[in-house]
Amino acid sequence: MRRILVTGATGATGGAVLQALAGRDVTVRAMQRKAGETALASADETAVADFDDRAALTAALADVDAAYLVTPSSEQAAQRQIRFLDAARAAGVGQVAILSQLAATADSPVRFLRWHAEVERYAAEHGPAHTILRPNLFLQGTLAFAGLIRATGGFGAPIGDATVSAVDVRDIGDAAAAVLTSDGHQGRTYDLTGPAAITHARLAEAISAATGRPVHFADVSPDEFAAQLRGALPDWQVDGLLEDYAHYRRGEAAAVSSAVPDLTGHPARSVDEFASAYADAFRA
Ligand SMILES: NC(=O)c1ccc[n+]([C@@H]2O[C@H](COP(=O)([O-])OP(=O)(O)OC[C@H]3O[C@@H](n4cnc5c(N)ncnc54)[C@H](OP(=O)(O)O)[C@@H]3O)[C@@H](O)[C@H]2O)c1
Repeated sequence: MRRILVTGATGATGGAVLQALAGRDVTVRAMQRKAGETALASADETAVADFDDRAALTAALADVDAAYLVTPSSEQAAQRQIRFLDAARAAGVGQVAILSQLAATADSPVRFLRWHAEVERYAAEHGPAHTILRPNLFLQGTLAFAGLIRATGGFGAPIGDATVSAVDVRDIGDAAAAVLTSDGHQGRTYDLTGPAAITHARLAEAISAATGRPVHFADVSPDEFAAQLRGALPDWQVDGLLEDYAHYRRGEAAAVSSAVPDLTGHPARSVDEFASAYADAFRA
């Protein structure tokens, strides 16, 4: 039976991959950074490994046929993913689904997109066999505004009325499960988006309908947005988010792809489905 290693198993997309693999005819090994972390009930096996520990990665990859690779956004992201790819190639892993981001290019003004492009290039040049998954903005990322929405009935971001084809993380999990359990995806790159490009005002409308409370969206300047975040996040992350939002505002993340329905056999989840599934988090 195919053994699949899922990294980032306690995180957003890794958790969605675990959910999507549950019940399939595969052996799922969840990789955790620390022993005794959150119980990963749906995994058949667990391995404890830090991306900074090559020997632990090698042990986690023993007898693995396919792997899902995600690291948190950080200045070490590319280095960590490249270390994992080296260990996977040495271990003879036949397929790695690499989580990247829509529009990753080496010369992007968005640092996160440059970091992802570096990993994509490394994988193309050195292997192992892999599939690139390039999701757009996560709908679940807007849960970061939930506290503000509960407290003030609104949220702000420097995006104006630009649209983004934001994707539900559950669809990333389903798409990753498809490329890890079926053949013909190696060497391919899939853009993972929602079913439509939406404004943040439309997102506010969906949350409002799902919670039964008014929720307003305000376009704010990059400086105001940064002021909300500084202190809570490190400077590199605040600056990276400003670059991300400038990219969204330029309309560069509005294209809709058919990859989610093509890979999963179901339509991509809409903003309304997202808002009703997470209504409790947004409700005061
Ligand atoms: N947010 C968006 O809108 C968006 C859009 C497109 C692409 N992306 C990309 O998505 C990725 C983040 O994915 P995510 O949201 O699923 O991540 P996440 O929720 O932040 O989860 C990160 C996972 O990595 C684990 N981890 C952290 N440091 C580790 C280490 N040193 N060694 C081993 N494991 C470690 C964490 O484990 P612990 O529980 O131990 O911390 C956690 O399970 C980034 O590459 C980002 O660029 C994000």
